[in-house]
Amino acid sequence: MSAPSPKENVAVSEDEVKKLGEFLRNETNPLKARFRALFTLRNINNLLAIQQIGDCFSDPSALLKHELAYCLGQMQSHEAIPILASVLNNLEEHPMVRHEAAEALGAIGGEDCLQILKKYSQDKVTEVAETVELALARICHVQEYANLKQSSPYFSVDPAFPLKGCSDVELLTTMLMNEKLSLYQRYQAMFTLRDLATPESIEAIGKGLKASSALFRHEIAFVLGQLQNSQSIEVLTENLKDLGENEMVRHECAEALGAIGTKECEAILKEFLADEKRVVKESCEVALDICEYEMNGNFQYADGLQTILKQS
Ligand SMILES: [Fe+2]
Ligand SMILES: [Fe+2]
Repeated sequence: MSAPSPKENVAVSEDEVKKLGEFLRNETNPLKARFRALFTLRNINNLLAIQQIGDCFSDPSALLKHELAYCLGQMQSHEAIPILASVLNNLEEHPMVRHEAAEALGAIGGEDCLQILKKYSQDKVTEVAETVELALARICHVQEYANLKQSSPYFSVDPAFPLKGCSDVELLTTMLMNEKLSLYQRYQAMFTLRDLATPESIEAIGKGLKASSALFRHEIAFVLGQLQNSQSIEVLTENLKDLGENEMVRHECAEALGAIGTKECEAILKEFLADEKRVVKESCEVALDICEYEMNGNFQYADGLQTILKQS
């Protein structure tokens, strides 16, 4: 999820990190508060924080677990590799969680992750196999350009690097929608359009919500969430409202609407708070919390350490 990003490093004691972990794992806590605890652990980003996150993978919420994997990828620490490898290896696990574990291994990169990922390139679950294809391409891209570092304006480690110096929206749109190109190339077009962040480029990204790959559509929704532009409300709502749409896509549309955070988004999200799909319902709960944050904007989303510790 494109949660509000860390603005500064958080200095905390071991005891506080453990308490955050306990709070995160406690199923009786509201999901939105557990997400805040998770993002605080992500920002702390040390070995103990990684262990606390890793210990939460037995939770029943696929939404929470996919976010655990996402955060471990964003932290880019090699310590998380065995945790993510075992999540990917669990064929009983929800596809969205396995997808995020594969993507996280791609974000960490290096030879170890490459070898793990290779075993899943023919995975039976399309979203997983496609994620592995992307993650392998990303790792090779980094290796080819001698440990290329990403500098996303959104503080995110993305599944593909933008195309440097390309600002031709028409060409990028053609690339984005060309299903004959590799997923990696199409993702590159997507992130280039994102970084241009003009009304035209945002409109072009929105067209991707009609592409045939569910994985691709979910990433489109994620990127629209990062852009936080109200011009995307309509297209995101359309996919969220489509009950036949893949739940991973509907989830990402809900969270993107939360990130855009207008009154209109709030009203739409409330409509799906009782959705039949647990992942969608929970996404709306968390998205409404982000929405509230965006509308008030007077406290930092993931620095609620003291607030969380007071509650625990
Ligand atoms: Fe997600
Ligand atoms: Fe994802």
